[in-house]
Amino acid sequence: MTNLSVKFGNIEFKNPLIMASGTFGFGKEYAEIYDIEKLGGISSKGLTLEKRDGNKGMRVFETPSGMMNSVGLENPGVKGFIENELQFFKKLDTVRIANLGGGTLDDYIKGVELLNDQPIDMIELNISCPNVKAGGMAFGIKNEVAREVVRAVRAKTTLPLIVKLSPNAEDIIGMAKVCEEEGADGISLVNTFKAMAIDINKKKPVFENTYAGLSGPAIKPIALRMVHEVCKAVNIPVMGMGGITTWQDAIEFIMAGATCIQVGTANFVNPKIGLDIIEGIKKYMEEEGINSLDEIRGII
Ligand SMILES: Cc1cc2nc3c(=O)[nH]c(=O)nc-3n(C[C@H](O)[C@H](O)[C@H](O)COP(=O)(O)O)c2cc1C
Repeated sequence: MTNLSVKFGNIEFKNPLIMASGTFGFGKEYAEIYDIEKLGGISSKGLTLEKRDGNKGMRVFETPSGMMNSVGLENPGVKGFIENELQFFKKLDTVRIANLGGGTLDDYIKGVELLNDQPIDMIELNISCPNVKAGGMAFGIKNEVAREVVRAVRAKTTLPLIVKLSPNAEDIIGMAKVCEEEGADGISLVNTFKAMAIDINKKKPVFENTYAGLSGPAIKPIALRMVHEVCKAVNIPVMGMGGITTWQDAIEFIMAGATCIQVGTANFVNPKIGLDIIEGIKKYMEEEGINSLDEIRGII
C-alpha cells in the first residue's frame, strides 16, 4: 500500500506537501477552488506582532523562470489573525502552521506568547525579517543573531518550532546547526534570495527598496543544494522549498533529505498545483513500488 504520510518530529502529515508562507494566505481563497484539506499542511501568511500595510510601489515582478516580490509582510498582525482568520484556519483538517516574523526580539517573544494558547500545530519562525535594532540587517544573516532569536522563542513556547532559514545567510549550514542546538524541532529552507531589477526607462530600481526576494524555478537548483547540505548537517527534520513546480521537483527535494516540501510561487501559476504534485508523487511511488517516502528520503 502506498502511504504518503510523513512524520515530522511528533507531527504527522497526511502527505509531505505544505503550502509556503505568503503564497496561500490563510487558505480561504484557495478553499473556494479546491479541497485544501487534501494538503499535508499550510503555512500561514507571515504574521508580525502589529498589523502591517506592506511596502509601497511595485510588489511583484516577473523574471525569467521566477518572480521577485517586495510585499513587505502585509498582514493583519497576530491579534488580527487570532480574531479574524483563526476561526477558519483552526477548523482545517491539515497541519496548521503559523509563520511568525518580527522586527525586534521583543516582537518575536510577544508574538509567540499570543500564539501559544491558540489551536495551531506548529510555529515557523521567519528570521528573514529586517532586524530594526541592527540597522535593518535580517536576523537570519549572522549565526549568533539567529541564535538569540531562536533561544528566546524556544524558551517561550512548547509548540513544535521550526526555523525558516534565509538563503542569504552567511553560513547556512552553521545556522541550521545553531537552530538545532537551540532546540528547534525542525528547519525549513529556503526563503527568497535577495535580488534586483532595474527599470531602464525610468532609470530606477523596479522596487522602492531597491532589492526584492527572488523565488520560483530560477532558484530551484541552488535551493536543492542548500537543502541537501543542511539535511546532511543536522539531525532534526527539514522542510525543503525553493522553486518546486512539479512532482519531480518534490521527489528531488525528498531524495536530498527533506521530510516535507513546501510550494510557494507555483501556486500563482496553477492554483491547484498542490493536488497535481500530491497525485504525481503517489503515482511515482506506485510505479516504483515505493511504500513509504522513508525509502527514498536522503538517498543522495
Ligand atoms: C509573494 C510572496 C510572499 C511571501 N511571503 C512570505 C512570508 O510572509 N513569510 C515567509 O516566511 N516567506 C514568505 N515568502 C517566501 C516563500 O514562503 C518561499 O520561502 C519562497 O518563495 C521560495 O519558495 P518558492 O520558490 O516555491 O516560492 C513569500 C514568497 C512570495 C513569492
